Amino acid sequence: MKGIKQIAIGIAFLLVFLTACKEQKSTQTEKNIEQKVEQLLQQMTLEEKLGQMNQISPFGDDEAIKEGVKNGTIGSILNIIEPNQVNELQRIALEESRLGIPILIARDVIHGFKTIFPIPLGQAATFNPITVEYGARIAAIEASSVGIQWTFAPMIDISRDPRWGRIAESLGEDPYLASTLGSAMVRGFQGDSLHLPTAIAACPKHFVGYGASEGGKDYNSTFIPERQLRNVYLPPFEAAAQAGAATFMTSFNDNDGIPATANSFVLKDILRDEWNFDGIVVTDWASAAEMITHGFVADDKEATEKSVNAGVDMEMVSGMFIRRIPELIKEGKVKEQTINQAVRNILRIKFRLGLFDNPYVDEQAPSPFYNAHHLEAAKQMAVESMILLKNEKETLPLSTDIKTLAVVGPMADAPHDQLGTWIFDGDKQYTQTPLAALKKEFGDQFNILYEPGLEFSRDRNTKHFPQAVNIAQKADAVVLFLGEEAILTGEAHSLADINLVGAQSELVKVLAQTGKPLITVIMAGRPLAIEQEVKLSDAVLYSFHPGTMGGPALVDLLFGKEVPSGKTPVTFPKTSGQIPIYYAHNNTGRPATGNELLLDQIPLEAGQTSLGNTSFHLDAGFHPLFPFGYGLSYTTFEYSNIQLSANQLKEHEVLTISFDLENTGKLRGTEIAQLYVRDVVGSITRPIKELKRYKRVTLDPKEKQKVTFELPIKELAFWNIDLKRVVEPGEFHLWVAPHSAATGEPLVFEVI
Ligand code: BGC
Repeated sequence: MKGIKQIAIGIAFLLVFLTACKEQKSTQTEKNIEQKVEQLLQQMTLEEKLGQMNQISPFGDDEAIKEGVKNGTIGSILNIIEPNQVNELQRIALEESRLGIPILIARDVIHGFKTIFPIPLGQAATFNPITVEYGARIAAIEASSVGIQWTFAPMIDISRDPRWGRIAESLGEDPYLASTLGSAMVRGFQGDSLHLPTAIAACPKHFVGYGASEGGKDYNSTFIPERQLRNVYLPPFEAAAQAGAATFMTSFNDNDGIPATANSFVLKDILRDEWNFDGIVVTDWASAAEMITHGFVADDKEATEKSVNAGVDMEMVSGMFIRRIPELIKEGKVKEQTINQAVRNILRIKFRLGLFDNPYVDEQAPSPFYNAHHLEAAKQMAVESMILLKNEKETLPLSTDIKTLAVVGPMADAPHDQLGTWIFDGDKQYTQTPLAALKKEFGDQFNILYEPGLEFSRDRNTKHFPQAVNIAQKADAVVLFLGEEAILTGEAHSLADINLVGAQSELVKVLAQTGKPLITVIMAGRPLAIEQEVKLSDAVLYSFHPGTMGGPALVDLLFGKEVPSGKTPVTFPKTSGQIPIYYAHNNTGRPATGNELLLDQIPLEAGQTSLGNTSFHLDAGFHPLFPFGYGLSYTTFEYSNIQLSANQLKEHEVLTISFDLENTGKLRGTEIAQLYVRDVVGSITRPIKELKRYKRVTLDPKEKQKVTFELPIKELAFWNIDLKRVVEPGEFHLWVAPHSAATGEPLVFEVI
């Protein structure tokens, strides 16, 4: 016994020693890097410096690009993905350019490179940082194998407007969820060290406020006051910076009249001075030049001046910096120190990535694309991302003893569309659709009848409906795959109305009339307003565009090999008119009670004040269709015995919340338990609830587990009336719950 103890102590010492050595080594490496950056900087001409700040996208003239690399006028290239091309350009950079500075190769690797994972909004529905980090790791392994060293992800714009097409790329509406998952992505892309060959630099974007674009129209203006910016929109970016993100990208929007690309308050005061970020700030695609169109600057010279002076290091694609900075320096409008600082930031990241040692890719290495392991991980993430919204009479899981299954709908076999938005490199030939997966798994076991009914989601032609009804009538159950094509989501693809497009709603109606069990599966890039479709279906499974392995994942869920566990990462409105709608809203002076009379219930000539005066819509009420954090399972869970470690705490203390979670159903399943807190009285009004912790807990039937959350009280801080980040003493309410709208008496504690 004593011997074991001594060995354990020995190992502990060794670990501490090794960690200390590792830390010492990394500070030394960092010191070396800074020295090398300075040495290099001293040798650089102004033109070479500006070259580093210049990012191009191939313009078709290979010789001109090679010439640019040789002359040192190109620092980064996005969108080249051929290993031999990458290697040739890196060779020219290293061997033929005067100073031998490697090129930084970039690409949008948003939710997978070749193996496509669920869209980020689907990833957010997993509430699982481990799965999300692993997905990013695999994306990095595949992307780095062709020479990509930098991805423009994660996209962590808080998104509270499902009309906005880019909500698909986001991690949803909640700052805490987006912070935890966004930093998981950063860790996944960058791996243990940027220096490793499979690490790619992450680029949290779009900095900042882009998700609040007016009316959900892309590229539009935002009006976010500083307090809200700090309380809602900045936290995921701060978390990403703390996770070591190597680069940041500015956003397209102007906030309160200032385009993000020229906003020195966020780019310098916050990002550099408050968060100590020392990586690269890159513009979005020509976002500096677009400040002319915004009407913020007169021409590209002024655009250059404003963005460089605001703290931008690298300009994406317009070539403005390299063209205009020399005269700006001559005129004293831009200082050479400013340029030196930008170049330092760029070189630092190139050194950290190990590009000076080896920027090449091994063209002979076996390709990691779509390997079995990657496909399995993509399937697992897809399983975890799907949300069971309704399951009446235990319609799901389906029994494998059925004789005939009718498969209907335009998304049942849509290999391109189920991949979702931002797929530059995923090949649809590798997509496994639900129809293909069903046939593969059960083709020999029961009859599978297929009639899409509509050829694509926008199709309004109902001529195939009779055939869809016909196969439904012959079947034991109908699985209807609806949703939206990938092109209806993503950048610049906003909608004014988030109902199902085309004649999909009519298809639900005719199939519901058959009286057969109707399971509706929605594959989409945003929460859609599906109130009627949910009513008409017996079960609804929501799958944000699920990627390459969406089909097998869905089949496992439909037939109970897997049990759904995803939860909504955004509030689902009943109708577009409820937008913006999010759970962490302020209370107002007249909150809705839930008992309000709606349009059809109001007596004729009712008196003006007879309905009560609260904050709601006469035609839509107050509640969403599904709240944030919502999702059912094939089993049931019960929360009990919630206990707090203390009822009065000081700011430096940690509150421990414990509770029992029991699986009260018949199947093994996973619950995502959520912790919400309300700061009851603040120096400014505070949200009615805020997510502070979540945990995935897997339980066997009848198993009961004690679950704990640790909540440092300092995490209750917010930016208050004096624009200070403080924990304000007073009463707090707390809920441990299966979703954000779970009612019930809160537990109370006090911060003193
Ligand atoms: C998008 C960015 C993207 C960039 C490069 C822009 O249009 O807004 O998110 O990273 O293009 O492709």
